[in-house]
Amino acid sequence: MNKPHGGSLVDRVDLNFKPEQGNVEVTLDSIALSDLELLATGAYSPLNGFMDQENYQAVVQGMRLSNGLPWSIPITLPVEAKTASNIRIGETVHLVHEGTVYGVMTVTDIFTPDKKEEAKQVYQTSDSSHPGVKKLMERAGIYLGGPITLVKFPPKDDFQEFFLEPIQTRQKITELGWNTVVGFQTRNPVHRAHEYIQKTALETVDGLLLHPLVGETKAGDIPSDLRMECYQVLLENYYPKRRVCLSVFPAAMRYAGPREAVFHALVRKNYGCTHFIVGRDHAGVGDYYGTYDAQKIFNHFSAEEIGIEILCFENSFYCLKCEAMGTAKTCPHNQEDHISLSGTKVRAMLKEGKLPPKQFSRPEVAKKLVEGMSKKFVETGR
Ligand code: ADX
Repeated sequence: MNKPHGGSLVDRVDLNFKPEQGNVEVTLDSIALSDLELLATGAYSPLNGFMDQENYQAVVQGMRLSNGLPWSIPITLPVEAKTASNIRIGETVHLVHEGTVYGVMTVTDIFTPDKKEEAKQVYQTSDSSHPGVKKLMERAGIYLGGPITLVKFPPKDDFQEFFLEPIQTRQKITELGWNTVVGFQTRNPVHRAHEYIQKTALETVDGLLLHPLVGETKAGDIPSDLRMECYQVLLENYYPKRRVCLSVFPAAMRYAGPREAVFHALVRKNYGCTHFIVGRDHAGVGDYYGTYDAQKIFNHFSAEEIGIEILCFENSFYCLKCEAMGTAKTCPHNQEDHISLSGTKVRAMLKEGKLPPKQFSRPEVAKKLVEGMSKKFVETGR
């Protein structure tokens, strides 16, 4: 089994912990709540809490923790100045979301970040129309650092059986008898291009961890409950049962393109993967990143320090002349023969109740999407 990042899996869950009365309460937004859970269960190993200034600076400026280990996305706990002014270094605070205490944290650092610099380094832009930058700027202006303990798991109303912590995922991989496992990150339904690169990888590794991100995403992305239905119907109909494990990754999407690809890979190593797929414009949004920047960024690191093998794939499409999926590496035909639809185009079709073509999406998936999206449009008017 692949070793976790930094050597061992962090475990900071203590459900018997009784928080004391009278401690300062720090409010978590939904991103911080999901980060708390992911820190505590070891998905973010070797991190054992929200970043202090030293680690934050090292990550923002150099994509490494202060001990030199690669890490590309700051994991921070933003609070309002008023809350911060009531907290002293060394104090234990309660981490609260909608009135419930989910964790405690010993505060080792309180600092004011340079968010413009964070945006420039992490997102490569300070443009506030970038959804990740927008979110960064909306969050509070002071960061608290320090080790955390999770005292209560956030509620899992939907698809509870698909929540596997890193340790449970590792157990499942052992049970399935896989030596090599490829992790697949997605925030979309699995279309034919995704299926093609997953199955190409599956030809050489023992198993696939289909690991959709189900934390906060931007408006316009397909909601996770509907995506889960699509994944299940796809797996039932088109994948061999003993070769795939479907479980969810409860993190928020950052849309940080290349930096997020490194983060996604390191985290999947913690879940036990030996390989990780990075295709075109991984974790990208709009035109902020070059098509293959998320693959090139791995050249900053040695293979040993990343510790999970990156499988890079070119833009995949269905070719009408080949009558098969392919990429520029395997298909000689022109663009006019290729069916590749943008997310925007697919959403527009779904909104009109039109099925995406079978060369783009499996009919069972397309049907679920059309039904699900028309229901959502009725419910939300969007
Ligand atoms: S992401 O934001 O989670 O990366 P998405 O769900 O679209 O978005 O992509 C999941 C993975 O599939 C990423 O590694 C992405 O690069 C890859 N990918 C998506 N579409 C294609 C495609 N047409 N060709 C090659 N790779 C793709």
